[in-house]
Amino acid sequence: MTVAETLLDVRDLEAGYGKKTVLHGVSFRVGEGEIVALLGHNGAGKSTTLKTLLGLLPARAGSVRFAGREWANGDPAANVKRGLALVPQGRGVFPDLSVAENLMLGAYTQSDRAGALQHMGEILDLFPILAERSTQRVGTMSGGQQQMVAVGTALMQRPRLMRMDEPSLGLAPVLVQRVLETAVEINRRFGTAIVLVEQNIKTALGMASRAYVMKSGRIVLEKPAAELLAAQDSWWELY
Ligand SMILES: Nc1ncnc2c1ncn2[C@@H]1O[C@H](COP(=O)(O)OP(=O)(O)OP(=O)(O)O)[C@@H](O)[C@H]1O
Ligand SMILES: [Mg+2]
Repeated sequence: MTVAETLLDVRDLEAGYGKKTVLHGVSFRVGEGEIVALLGHNGAGKSTTLKTLLGLLPARAGSVRFAGREWANGDPAANVKRGLALVPQGRGVFPDLSVAENLMLGAYTQSDRAGALQHMGEILDLFPILAERSTQRVGTMSGGQQQMVAVGTALMQRPRLMRMDEPSLGLAPVLVQRVLETAVEINRRFGTAIVLVEQNIKTALGMASRAYVMKSGRIVLEKPAAELLAAQDSWWELY
């Protein structure tokens, strides 16, 4: 296996809420076009890691390099412009806006509106159900469809790296499969690297090339996904 060039390089990241430190020196890397799974039990610090990477939560220490540049600590808009995107846990769509309006909001940092409309067409190709319902208010759609809108909106930013925080949360198994297959399709079609936080460990490991396991705000294991998948029962209970 050739090692892809590093797109995201996270070193010794420390962050928290108020006086509480949640991340105690998190380090990991993601290659260009790579899918990496970030696993761990509830409260391990996965969402906090993703939020800090986007800039929603300022890091107190550590460094992050993205596409060869230092990232903008605590500045989500600047990071989105540089090609980092987040699909938040719990969907994060605008329920009163239509599918198309939600998607176009994802392109708010781009001045090329014609280009954004064309890109929306490409994204709707990925989600036929959204194409059929582009004028429907998102609040009236099913959970799975709303999740697709959230993924589509993140893609509108033309990210080089997409962080997905439990995209399957609350979805029926068949939809989980669908959302995650779409993520793989996105990765193949647009070359978008993905950091995937997912409770469906087997599915996540089936998609990813490598995985990191977090516990209590630290990375405690890094392995090729296939290796973890083959021996899942023997390591998961340890963490
Ligand atoms: N807004 C917040 N204010 C204070 N503490 C928080 C906040 N968000 C998360 N925490 C705390 O930070 C720790 C890590 O939470 P985080 O949401 O990063 O975990 P997670 O790995 O994403 O868990 P889950 O699998 O349940 O989503 C937990 O102890 C949690 O209570
Ligand atoms: Mg979380």
